[in-house]
Amino acid sequence: MTDVIAPARSLFAGLQAQAPDPLLSLIALYKNDPRPQKLDLGVGVYRDAAGATPVFGAMKAAERVLLETQATKAYLGPEGDFGFLEAIAPVVFGKSRAGEGLFAVQTPGGTGALRLAAELANAGAPGARIWMGAPSWPIHAPIFRQAGLAVESFRYFDPATQRICFDEMMAALARATAGDLVLLHGACHNPTGADLSLAQWAEVAALLSARGAVPLIDLAYQGLGAGLDEDAAGMRLVMDASDAVIVAYSCDKNFGLYRERTGALFVRARGHEDVVRSNILQLARCAWSMPPDHGAAAVRVILEDPALTAQWRAELDAMRTRLNQVRAALAEADPRLEPLRDQHGLFALLPLSPAQVEAMRRDHAVYMAGSGRINIAGLKADTVQPFVQALDACLKGDA
Ligand code: LMR
Repeated sequence: MTDVIAPARSLFAGLQAQAPDPLLSLIALYKNDPRPQKLDLGVGVYRDAAGATPVFGAMKAAERVLLETQATKAYLGPEGDFGFLEAIAPVVFGKSRAGEGLFAVQTPGGTGALRLAAELANAGAPGARIWMGAPSWPIHAPIFRQAGLAVESFRYFDPATQRICFDEMMAALARATAGDLVLLHGACHNPTGADLSLAQWAEVAALLSARGAVPLIDLAYQGLGAGLDEDAAGMRLVMDASDAVIVAYSCDKNFGLYRERTGALFVRARGHEDVVRSNILQLARCAWSMPPDHGAAAVRVILEDPALTAQWRAELDAMRTRLNQVRAALAEADPRLEPLRDQHGLFALLPLSPAQVEAMRRDHAVYMAGSGRINIAGLKADTVQPFVQALDACLKGDA
């Protein structure tokens, strides 16, 4: 006779099936589409006029330096590469007072910085509220919810009019209370491309300061909008007005590092410096122990060398120029796209229904996010016109 063994309680029984990330699923769908005229306007990577996402020349040079000179790959510690953090801070914060009193830690991309910020907030004030505009990067809300925060959203943008709903934003933020977080996109808003004006940033800064709310600025596209300093100007205004501020920074786009996962978290917490610092280090240690090195080390090499820095800046300028040329071409091709001319960065959000987005893909081989977001960099001089024609057909409903 065999022993009767009670069925083991399954560790995984409580899991709910999760849908694949719709944006990342587009990569495979696009790859498998045999139509030669197909257009990839999906995931947010920069593409040059030949449709490539090349490694920056300055980055290749820095990688060669690393290959020749790096003597060890022994651990650096939970903060990561101090040289990287010291070199990137003036790029982010300028030479103004904005960067004063910040604790910095290197993170796996901007997403790692956001997650660490969320964990820190939830450790300090479990279940704290974070306010964010809608739409936002689709992963923002899940990151904060998974860390235990309560997400409050307000309307940020109206795709039909292509305008920021600033009054609604201010009315919502007037309800923020002391200790709430407020997520702000530093520049090149994802998914809309619609950034606050400096006057609007100043109003937001004054309101957050009056409410005692803590700005959390996600700066993932510095330099792709209007320029390195221009894209940080709003954030610097907010920082001048706040004792407590958190910045999640990414080098993925402006150094073309994407899969190297290079970013940083900067936190100013006047009056709580030591305890905040020790908590960030402990949370990072428990999450990833130490951040990946290569991308940050290469950024450090670039920023410590004036010639490589100049080369990197020129390459970044060329990216921005191309994005703005595509924006201008879209505006000229269809007056309904005129607002895109003055928006910034990789993205624009078109007023398309899910069925129209599906028709763009099915009937015209145009791949874009389900929200109607397009990646401007996926277009070039000879594809603007076919794209605009496809868009027109879908908007008329005869797609
Ligand atoms: C995007 O929004 O396309 C990028 O930020 C890539 C990503 O991870 O979603």
